[in-house]
Amino acid sequence: MPVEIVARKSKTSRPVYLVADDGLPDAGLAKPELAWALANGFSGEAGRALMLPGSGGAVAGALFGIGRGEGALALGALAKALPDGDWHFASTPDRPDLAALALKLGGYRFTRYGKGPGSNLRLALPMGVDAGRVGRIADGVFLARDLVNTPTNDMGPDALEKAVRELAKAHKADVSVIKGDDLLKKNFPMIHAVGRASAEAPRLIDLTWGPKKAPKVTLVGKGVCFDTGGLDIKPASGMLLMKKDMGGAANVLGLASMIMAAGLKVRLRVLIPAVENSIAGNAFRPGDVLTSRKGVTVEIGNTDAEGRLVLADALALADEEAPQVLVDMATLTGAARVALGPDLSPFYTDDEALACELAAASVAVEDPLWRMPLWKPYEAKLASKIADMNNVTTDGFAGSITAALFLKRFVEKTSGWAHFDIFAWNPWERPHGPAGGEAQGIRALEKVLSQRFG
Ligand code: BES
Ligand code: MN
Ligand code: ZN
Repeated sequence: MPVEIVARKSKTSRPVYLVADDGLPDAGLAKPELAWALANGFSGEAGRALMLPGSGGAVAGALFGIGRGEGALALGALAKALPDGDWHFASTPDRPDLAALALKLGGYRFTRYGKGPGSNLRLALPMGVDAGRVGRIADGVFLARDLVNTPTNDMGPDALEKAVRELAKAHKADVSVIKGDDLLKKNFPMIHAVGRASAEAPRLIDLTWGPKKAPKVTLVGKGVCFDTGGLDIKPASGMLLMKKDMGGAANVLGLASMIMAAGLKVRLRVLIPAVENSIAGNAFRPGDVLTSRKGVTVEIGNTDAEGRLVLADALALADEEAPQVLVDMATLTGAARVALGPDLSPFYTDDEALACELAAASVAVEDPLWRMPLWKPYEAKLASKIADMNNVTTDGFAGSITAALFLKRFVEKTSGWAHFDIFAWNPWERPHGPAGGEAQGIRALEKVLSQRFG
């Protein structure tokens, strides 16, 4: 338990003083502490921690610089900066809920392969914070991170299915799976085509939870457990991180965990096409034409644009029952990262109300999102000479938008659809988490869904 949130501060708990830039005089420090801060040249600069000396060489407390409104998640740096033991905030921080969450998230470590758990802190719950909610959100984020961080030899389609079953069991949800050649019988031809060359059978995982009559919320996550690129093979540099190509699935599972733990009043469905985009004699090829679940024929311009193919069949199924909210998340394009970098996830929707709620929630919970347009004129670029559409465009323009437009063809009945082209990875360490797998957009989505269905 790297950072545990406890209800009350213990007798041995030490204070953390949050100090704004040049805010030392107002930080509520006693004279010797103030002198110590000045002697150390500490002026409240963002992200800097300074330990306060106690008797006998002990650490009696800490100062932490919060700069000028750097955001509450920056407090996550405390998870690493503070010595082990019990801590509390000397005065209630601005965003106490996010501050507590920041420390939880900052204390995350991926320990499966023997690395230590890092720090071991207990933080007393700041005033007015719902500990249950902080815990649910941290659990969801940690689930997403763990799933992404686990390499494909331990997180192939079989293991991903097992992870869904474990989550379902914890929340009394139901799971059904359509696997291997049954995908052809049940009409999921593109999921089958993308995944059939793998040693582990492709499958569609279908989790349901909550009363059947409640408003339907369906989450679809790209579960490409490894993306070699298929026959249009990726170069080594592009393949290195492709264990994270199930990051969409990991994220929607993290979100599902938050929804179920909170008991939101929804009928939840989670659809995960779980496949490995591998190379073998039976792999699908450039130039092949696939007939999708919807009947739309798709010419394969590049087998590396596989995510949109498996999502198309899953989205078509989701769309058949026209849920009130339909969210898909996917590590879909390198172009998204070129456009916005690794922090900001683009999202796409034609639902103006949903877009506004998402944008506001994203700011409120410091989960950065940026809306991009489903720019209709670019749809023509997905034309094929022999099929209804091609899975790629060839001019290199607006790759994230054209991928979103591809998906849109498979969502006809559902007006509340939003697509997230996420990166699912921290390339470098952040205050709120180490380098590696990351949850993106799901804290903002949790906020929107709680507002609507809490
Ligand atoms: N999984 C990749 C996209 C990706 C790459 C996400 C790197 C994050 C980091 C996806 O399947 C893919 O390969 N997309 C291609 C599409 C192209 C062939 C049209 C891409 O983005 O290059
Ligand atoms: Mn690919
Ligand atoms: Zn991919």
